[in-house]
Amino acid sequence: MDHSSTTPVDPEVVKAMLPFFTQKYGNASSLHSFGREAHDALEKARENVAKLINAEKEEIFFTSGGTESDNIAIQGTAYRMKQEIIDYKGPHIITSSIEHPAVMETCKYLEKQGFMVKYLPVDKYGVVNINELKNSISKGTFLITVMHANNEIGTIQNIDEIGKIAKEHNIVFHSDAVQSIGKIPVDVKKTKIDMLSMSSHKIYGPKGVGALYIKKGVKLEQIVHGGGHEKNLRSGTENISGIVGFGKACEIAKSCLEKEKKRITKLRDRLIKSCLEIPNSRLNGHPVKRLSGNTNFLFENVNAESIVTHLDLNNVAASTGSACSSKKIVPSHVLTAIGLNPKQVFSCLRLTLGRKNNKEEVDYVVRVLLKGIGKLRGIAH
Ligand SMILES: Cc1ncc(COP(=O)(O)O)c(C=O)c1O
Repeated sequence: MDHSSTTPVDPEVVKAMLPFFTQKYGNASSLHSFGREAHDALEKARENVAKLINAEKEEIFFTSGGTESDNIAIQGTAYRMKQEIIDYKGPHIITSSIEHPAVMETCKYLEKQGFMVKYLPVDKYGVVNINELKNSISKGTFLITVMHANNEIGTIQNIDEIGKIAKEHNIVFHSDAVQSIGKIPVDVKKTKIDMLSMSSHKIYGPKGVGALYIKKGVKLEQIVHGGGHEKNLRSGTENISGIVGFGKACEIAKSCLEKEKKRITKLRDRLIKSCLEIPNSRLNGHPVKRLSGNTNFLFENVNAESIVTHLDLNNVAASTGSACSSKKIVPSHVLTAIGLNPKQVFSCLRLTLGRKNNKEEVDYVVRVLLKGIGKLRGIAH
């Protein structure tokens, strides 16, 4: 019940990866047959990733994951802008107040270097206000970075509309789609996206691999310097086995996307319905525009960490917020942005469904939750 943190590697993915550790272990830059074999595998994987989001193969750049993709996209655009435009008016980035730390911290870092950043507020469901976005655009705005789907509350942003606005103003549009690819349709041709971040381990691929889609013609300054891999954008010997796994994971995700989306949405709604029957509970995030597998609840007057421990003791993995912040005792910036007070933020539980979950498991979780919350509230009284 914690698939937004990570997912198990699909056995088919493992099978595809294995030969690349022991037999096909070439360096894709080598000229000999081992190298060519690795290079071919790299390109095949690139094609599979591209197909998942309807991009061209040449527009996919492999990275070490979502975090690196976000950094390359945002910093790369900022540094390019600084180099190319000498007479700019207040270099300006627009983002949302509920981004993943990979985007948020990168923006904060750029602020220290003189860039200005507007963190757009969201409504109670976590949706970015489009009018506020339009009003925030200034002469110096060169980048809009707004995530596709939120990792904590699952809210899906209207990236079609945001992309259109960015295009009208000739602003580069980047979207962190780490939580959405493979789960809901993403089409970079239909949506006017210039850059899109992806990660393998959220879609049943291995950890430490990801990709950045960069639309043909969009120029970035490199931030990882070295031997010139990935068309000089991201140097470093390619993680062939991982990339092969990511490619396979994309292929599988594409083949079962619609069916899984439907199945998991049904399970999600069953979970939501049951959890909302628990007294003093509330659903965080948008009721409809949300990721198929995401649920996030506020259970008033219960400490979420205690629920997570109670669930863990009953063999259920859950989360209090995003994995990256689950070991910090700072209130989630996402839950705060949707208007919850600190006490409420610490009473929120995220349950995220995946490919292996079924109805029986959902019902089991609800039973365990009911018991746990009753007990915890009893203690609280
Ligand atoms: C929305 C979002 N962006 C970026 C990341 C970071 O991806 P990675 O773990 O591949 O670095 C995550 C991971 O949780 C995420 O949920």
